[in-house]
Amino acid sequence: MLKPKETFKVTPWIVEGEVNYEILVEKFGLRKIDREILNLFISAIKEIPPLIRRGIFFSHRDLDKVLREFLQGKKFYLYTGRGPSGPMHIGHIVPFLFTKYLQEKFKADLYIQITSDEKYMYHKEYKPEELERRTIDNILDILALGFDEKRTYVIDDLVDIKYIYPISISIARKVNFSVVRAVFGFNESTNIGMIFFPAIQAAPCFIGYFVSKENKNCLIPAAVDQDPYWRITRDIAFKLGFPKPAQIHGKFLPSLKGLGKMSSSIPESSIYLSDDEVDVRRKIWNAFTGGQPSIREQRIKGGNPDICRVYSYMYFLFEPDDKRLKEIYEECRGGRRICGDCKEELINKINYFLKKHKQKRESIKEKVKNYMLSEKVSLEDLERNVYRLLR
Ligand code: TYM
Repeated sequence: MLKPKETFKVTPWIVEGEVNYEILVEKFGLRKIDREILNLFISAIKEIPPLIRRGIFFSHRDLDKVLREFLQGKKFYLYTGRGPSGPMHIGHIVPFLFTKYLQEKFKADLYIQITSDEKYMYHKEYKPEELERRTIDNILDILALGFDEKRTYVIDDLVDIKYIYPISISIARKVNFSVVRAVFGFNESTNIGMIFFPAIQAAPCFIGYFVSKENKNCLIPAAVDQDPYWRITRDIAFKLGFPKPAQIHGKFLPSLKGLGKMSSSIPESSIYLSDDEVDVRRKIWNAFTGGQPSIREQRIKGGNPDICRVYSYMYFLFEPDDKRLKEIYEECRGGRRICGDCKEELINKINYFLKKHKQKRESIKEKVKNYMLSEKVSLEDLERNVYRLLR
């Protein structure tokens, strides 16, 4: 629950209220994406990534350094992840699609961590029998987005813990309880698993170094709620002999119902990747829009796309063409477009995307093994290197 004076709240587990990203940048001590970053992208890949151009990925830590060093020949690997608390919704795929874009453009290795351990320890109602099912289900949804098979390593915490545990304990030894309490708001009733967990989520920030045996930087694309983890990791990176992992932070695809991000506990607030055509139609027709109460008023006064959830879906994912998006915006403002027009257009786009996604999900089933860290990297080989951290 929000405290009396809070208008919004962002932690890795709770996002509430209407997030003010300007305030968040101040509060978290982030740097906004500026002209220098845009120029570095143009020098490196000849374009500005579309999700940055739209302001959806909006802030960073050390991205300038990673891009500058890339231009001088130092590669970086990407790291992102998912906690399989339930089925994935459309919001969850925003950072993954952005990561896929970066992987393609920079030909970067990518580590994807699946933190079923985190969700099991955090959600008291999480049933053990759901762990495996949800983990597999989420991995399929992620891989269906189309990552480079050769360059992608999925770390399933429960199965692959032996790959990251030595790194985690080297991190854990350097982080005091007072730090995690201050950063995450832990208290006496927090279970001890959660108190240790930040060392598990931090570990993949360094694993790329051991797998490729090259001195690379690490760049983490994720929504901004995950930033607290990286604050801790950045503080101890030098002590372990690594560069600080860099981040690029995304905004949240908002709830279809109005305030806040989409929530797995309120099914009507999100479109799930498993939703069928009927679900999509119902949810979009019931979504919060910036429209006027009647068509007549809409024609006279125009609508407000800035607060409209249907428009935000187009803006984040479903209308890649900037020119077309601008037309939709202006038609709405000028009353030439009514909410029903936008809703029908969006329903068709989402249903088309989900149909294709489900097909890709089916076709990737046979290939999951090819992406798993434990299938691709020999533990003995990795251990020889990782154990030097413990010395
Ligand atoms: P999780 O499963 O909560 O979220 C997965 C990714 O989705 C982002 N996200 C969103 N992005 C846009 N719109 C939304 N409405 C929205 N909701 C969530 C999250 O920021 C995240 O990028 N602890 C992590 C798993 C993890 C991880 C990582 C995430 C482990 N290592 C490294 C990012 C980077 C978690 O539970 O994410």
